[in-house]
Amino acid sequence: MKDRLFEEKRGSLGKELTNSLHKLFKTALIHDPNNVAINSALEKTLESMKLLLSDGDSFSLRLVQEYLFIDDVKIKVDIENFLASMFLIEEMKKRGIGSVTFSVPQCGDELRRFVYAFINTDPKSIEPFKELSHKLISQGITNITINMIKEEAEYFEHVIEDTKEMAKRIYFKTISVASEVMESAKLKHSVGIKKSKRLVQSMVDLMLKEESTLLGLTNLRAYDEYTYNHSVNVSILSIAMGQRLGYHRRELSELGMATLFHDIGKIDLPIELLNKPSEFTPEEWQIIRQHPVHGVKTLLRLKGLQEQAIRMIMASFEHHLNYDLSGYPKLVSPRRVSIFGRIASIADCYDALTSARVYNRTPFVPDKALSFMMKKSGSAFDPILLKIFINVVGIYPIGTLILMNTKELGVVTKANPNPGNIHRPYVKLITDRDGNEIDGEITDLAGDKNIFIAQSLDHRKYGIDVSKYFM
Ligand SMILES: [Fe+2]
Ligand SMILES: [Fe+2]
Repeated sequence: MKDRLFEEKRGSLGKELTNSLHKLFKTALIHDPNNVAINSALEKTLESMKLLLSDGDSFSLRLVQEYLFIDDVKIKVDIENFLASMFLIEEMKKRGIGSVTFSVPQCGDELRRFVYAFINTDPKSIEPFKELSHKLISQGITNITINMIKEEAEYFEHVIEDTKEMAKRIYFKTISVASEVMESAKLKHSVGIKKSKRLVQSMVDLMLKEESTLLGLTNLRAYDEYTYNHSVNVSILSIAMGQRLGYHRRELSELGMATLFHDIGKIDLPIELLNKPSEFTPEEWQIIRQHPVHGVKTLLRLKGLQEQAIRMIMASFEHHLNYDLSGYPKLVSPRRVSIFGRIASIADCYDALTSARVYNRTPFVPDKALSFMMKKSGSAFDPILLKIFINVVGIYPIGTLILMNTKELGVVTKANPNPGNIHRPYVKLITDRDGNEIDGEITDLAGDKNIFIAQSLDHRKYGIDVSKYFM
């Protein structure tokens, strides 16, 4: 039995390897084998391989179901390596590869030839696996071998499905599928939304059994592609509200889809504008304010929308329209904002306020964002829905870094199920009163009136990775 430390180390080396391999493949796709960019990507990959090989003569990168392993240690997926993992999983699957084994001695040249043989094997050919194995043999590549996907499945029958892992998978996969849909819509390709529908359905199912994990994921705000991260967060927050409103599974999925694509109209805005590092001018604001209407036009072009179309279109059109009809776009004749529109506007505003990237504001910590929004209850926001929302996220949402009255630091791991104790969530203490890191117990703050939250803090300022405490 290997110890936990060993596994952790292999897991994080595996993470590095997936990232460097991803970079290497991506570089190889656009450059020829002797390009300098390839050399540096190769070097980086060899470095992580060397560390993995320090424990033996060889190691395998294995694909089992939807997971990558280094030998029998699962590589955890997080915000830093999910794109790389998705890429490797997809590309291995497409070529029928269940594992790749790397042995010593490893030299850059062999790895280079392997990478090009791999990408030049068309996944659509009749037997891509066979084709690639032949190439490896004919090119004298002996220190890198591949195995077929079937043989691997049996090896790992003991893999236990873990709902937290699954939640992460679905979250990241939804980000990547939403980005695919939006990127193809931008290129005016015909876009299907079947995959997104399936993923939203999985988010709904997960929300019914693992609500706190899914909500916690919305608190990871490190991902570069703000728009996609934001879209998925707004969708999750909206589904959670819909659940409190007693929506059925089907309606929850509709709401999830509608809110996932609420900002689809942004694809028509100039990219320089979206990434502008300084304040917008009034003219620029005018362009930005057109995105809800652009969204309507794009949604009308999507395939496979059918009866959901109207409600989705409403969510896109109305998400910046306030409860009192201020906001934008202006309506020609006044009418009530649809319920999907009112839900979307609350989830959208909250996620935007608490994220660092939107319109370059300094982000609010969650409780400050909520009190800011409370001031607009009844004017910008539907007051009843806003109350429900606060109940969903809690004053101190999962993942919030907090300072206790005892001067200890903690991270919120679960909302208190009793609405009367909304200020007293479950907290894991992470430092003692002198600031030394500790592996504290999870405490129900409702159970001990002597400890309470003094203040919430922005974990980004303290450089604390809060996700590791609740995921
Ligand atoms: Fe928007
Ligand atoms: Fe938005």
